[in-house]
Amino acid sequence: MLRRLSPVQPDSFEFSPKNLEWANAQITKYPEGRQQSAIIPVLWRAQEQEGWLSRPAIEYCATLLGMPYIRALEVATFYFMFQLYPVGTVAHIQICGTTTCMICGAEDLIRVCKEKIAANPHTLSADGRFSWEEVECLGACTNAPMAQIGKDFYEDLTVEKLAALIDSFAAGEVPVPGPQNGRFSVEPLGGATTLTSESGEAHNGSVGLAVRIGDTIKRIDGTEVPITTPWLAK
Ligand code: FES
Repeated sequence: MLRRLSPVQPDSFEFSPKNLEWANAQITKYPEGRQQSAIIPVLWRAQEQEGWLSRPAIEYCATLLGMPYIRALEVATFYFMFQLYPVGTVAHIQICGTTTCMICGAEDLIRVCKEKIAANPHTLSADGRFSWEEVECLGACTNAPMAQIGKDFYEDLTVEKLAALIDSFAAGEVPVPGPQNGRFSVEPLGGATTLTSESGEAHNGSVGLAVRIGDTIKRIDGTEVPITTPWLAK
């Protein structure tokens, strides 16, 4: 997936006095001569100030850290966390389109974004409040299909659930993140099937097995230690 800078750029960028103070404090965390190690937090703060990362902002950060523009551009264009186009003022929706999510309906979610926000990714909605893009795996494959909105994951999505989420954001609400189908975290849809017994005698799973084979566990160095599982502790 190509990541390019927006063709429309502001004339300039500079940190607010407060953000400049924060950035200079971050830089002191690194040894002399290694200031450019602060590139990710400094770029992130620039994005938080501007809403997205413009070319002047990337070059400003490079200058602040004493590094060539191209090195900062390499970082900014590599990570999906950095937005290279202006994003909606209310929400920028990142739909995972990688294998698991694709099999589970990501293409339908993208269709919702096209209908409700804009026909093309990285394009603001007519009112400027929303934008969307397709991204690579966000590491929540067990809860596919999913989307990242702001800093939150919204998982186990359907066409209807995503449309409702967008409507909630448009109404000024912040929907509860996480699975949207009622399950807790990554539990099976039908509820837990292992580690279900407080006594540790569950028939499925390692807990019951560990109890049945003895009261100690042999560690990698050959020593044996008592099982100190929280459910057996008195
Ligand atoms: S494939 Fe979508 S989160 Fe991994």
